[in-house]
Amino acid sequence: MARATLNSFVEVQEALCNPNLRQNLYEDSDILMKDVLLTLHGEKHRRRRQSELKLFTRSITNDYENIIFSEFLNQMVSRAIEARDFDLVEFGYLATIQLTSDFAGVDREAKDEDTKKLIGIVKKFSEGATIAHSNRKKKAVRQNLKIAKDSFLKFLKPSWRRRKQLVEEFKKGRVKEEELPKDVLTVLLKNQTSLKLNDGDIEREVCFYLQAGSHSTANSLVHAANEILNWSTDTAVLARNPTLMQKCVHESLRLHPASPVAARKVIEPTLIGGRLFDIGDELELDLASANKDISIFGRDSNVFNPMRDIKHEKSQLFGLTFGAGVHLCAGRDLDGGIRNSNKQGSSIPQFGIITQILKSLFENGMKVHPEKISKKETQTSRDHWECFPVKIG
Ligand code: HEM
Repeated sequence: MARATLNSFVEVQEALCNPNLRQNLYEDSDILMKDVLLTLHGEKHRRRRQSELKLFTRSITNDYENIIFSEFLNQMVSRAIEARDFDLVEFGYLATIQLTSDFAGVDREAKDEDTKKLIGIVKKFSEGATIAHSNRKKKAVRQNLKIAKDSFLKFLKPSWRRRKQLVEEFKKGRVKEEELPKDVLTVLLKNQTSLKLNDGDIEREVCFYLQAGSHSTANSLVHAANEILNWSTDTAVLARNPTLMQKCVHESLRLHPASPVAARKVIEPTLIGGRLFDIGDELELDLASANKDISIFGRDSNVFNPMRDIKHEKSQLFGLTFGAGVHLCAGRDLDGGIRNSNKQGSSIPQFGIITQILKSLFENGMKVHPEKISKKETQTSRDHWECFPVKIG
């Protein structure tokens, strides 16, 4: 068995799209990641993905961004203005826990303590899912993950019960399809028999969705805010140009991929970039390096430059941050929006949740806190923010 690291854009993209490689980053995180969408392979993955991706069509993500989330964001920004100074990392988690619980299918009362509890759980899920990159003792991370999952399952019970009843009523013809909630839990309960899922499979999928979207979105939001605050001389003017704001967010996503590497195992002998790999070989796909490949992103690839010209028809400004191929991120359009969204024929453009949050905060005068200091996390090899104090208003 050989190990290799791929770091050119073309090779990493080719590997992500190669059906002879399977997911290999989550072997130590079975409590959470066993047989979830991201770790399934082949036909089982295709069928699960086909069912769940109906929740992420452009019309649903557009309505979500411009109607449901926008109302919630206005409330959050009003509260931030009242508070005057706040931590952007915490703000990011509050905003994205709303987003991911809506898509995962977790009902919550609008109580702050419930939300805080759920955020604490999701942070433990994230560390457990990315145990490969944690600097803490693996045994302790796994124990924390188990405690967090048990406490989440109690939290999930009422949401599960409500959806199960609705699905039963739907099957008896008493509830119409369009009256069912549009979330992963409902989709899986509705298709439980055809997808051959036991309750444990469904529980893990809901946990996975909660963490897949929250941590990556919250952290990417803070990276983008930091890059913009360093780059722009007038963020209030920038906020009036959402197309440029979206480019800034995409450029920051390129420089700070939530997962700096992906990992795959070879299941059939295969060629990548002209090199032959054999069954059992393990490949590290260095997304962070691929995103700085100068042949694609230019000589200044390690600098924040949202106006850059990309020299590859198959790349977007955010590079491979959302992955590629069959496991391409389901939340890409939700968080990143649609490129050239003004030209897509829709009357309401879709700039993405991250751009919308930053636009709203910059319109209201968000600035780096003049006295408090921002900090990065130290318990992970990932580039994560622990706190990012700001002022607004
Ligand atoms: C900035 C935010 C995000 C980033 C950078 C990101 C990144 C990624 C990446 C790199 C993958 C593929 C990993 C691999 O191939 O090994 C992925 C998969 C996935 N992401 Fe995201 N993600 C983000 C937000 C979200 C959100 C908001 C959701 C859902 C609400 C989501 C749901 C998923 C799902 C379900 C998959 C698995 C797809 C599959 O295996 O078929 N992500 N994400």
